[in-house]
Amino acid sequence: MSSLKDKMKEILPQPVVSFGKRILNGYPSLVMASLREARNFNMAYAKDSAKGAVQLEARMVYFTHQIEKGLSHQQFRYGFGKKPLKNLSVVMAKYCKVETNYIQKTPYISAMATIGEYIRRHEGRQRDLQYVYSLFSPTVLKETQNIAHVEGGSLIFSGREKTSNAKLTFQQLNERRHSIREFANTPITYQELLPAIEMAMRTPSVCNRQPTRVHVILNKELIAKALKIQGGFNGYPVPPALLLLTADNRVFMAPQEHNEGYTDGGLFGMNLLLALEEQGIAACPLNTMFRRGPEKTTRRLLSIPSNEVLVMYIAVGHFPEECATCVSRRLSAKDIVTVIE
Ligand SMILES: Cc1cc2nc3c(=O)[nH]c(=O)nc-3n(C[C@H](O)[C@H](O)[C@H](O)COP(=O)(O)O)c2cc1C
Repeated sequence: MSSLKDKMKEILPQPVVSFGKRILNGYPSLVMASLREARNFNMAYAKDSAKGAVQLEARMVYFTHQIEKGLSHQQFRYGFGKKPLKNLSVVMAKYCKVETNYIQKTPYISAMATIGEYIRRHEGRQRDLQYVYSLFSPTVLKETQNIAHVEGGSLIFSGREKTSNAKLTFQQLNERRHSIREFANTPITYQELLPAIEMAMRTPSVCNRQPTRVHVILNKELIAKALKIQGGFNGYPVPPALLLLTADNRVFMAPQEHNEGYTDGGLFGMNLLLALEEQGIAACPLNTMFRRGPEKTTRRLLSIPSNEVLVMYIAVGHFPEECATCVSRRLSAKDIVTVIE
């Protein structure tokens, strides 16, 4: 088959080969690929009617994380998170029915630890506690108090310890990096960010084609507008700077490469997060998973051309004196590894 293809390429004049390629590699291929992806995604994803253990775990982690964010706000707001607490109670109850070993599963333990911290932080505030008590059984409520703090909830550390980050081993740097959503009031400059961006240029990419582009946004008004559209940073002060990572589709050469920008951009993003951390700069990756309208508004606001796909934002700034963030408990490696021998 491929030799016939090669022969045809030799025999036919170049413009005809190019035209044929344009037809084969053009819209039909991309549309078919998108339809396949849409069908597979639609069958798998954790929709609110999902009943599978994996999907319920994902929903549990999502609601737990919302509560963790509330617990780690510098301006603590008592009684926050009624909706995620309710959602969490529903999903935990469903999960217990489909996963017999639920009590030993990390997402469940983490949810319990987070509820436990919520209860402790609301000690003496009867009205808020009554709401929590109304959602969970007495057994669950009791168990939440027996779970170690490292399993979920909020995490506090000093920003000063970040000044010697450049001396850490990779393992220490990686272990101690956390998303920071509330920064010091001091501004951050492009010159301060550049060494980390330069370091992230070492990120590997497909055939070294380097699709990632970095838009450094320093204008507070624009940052505020962009984050309002983004929606996942509500309730936090406007960060000193916002990076937008995009991938330039002009470096790709065939329809089956159409998602590669996200892979290469994602790798760049992780490398950049670690490079920022090494430089003692605080950061938080933020999603750019937009519906059509918000994407269009964002593109217009930040002048992002249509050949660039949005990969992620990264909010950046200096570490505050006291950093509070989410525990964001991880699964262990053996939870996600399949060995193929
Ligand atoms: C691609 C991506 C998008 C994210 N989007 C958001 C977001 O919109 N809002 C937010 O507060 N955190 C966001 N996060 C941060 C995650 O919540 C955080 O990375 C995760 O809980 C792990 O915690 P850690 O970064 O402190 O290790 C995002 C992270 C990634 C990698």
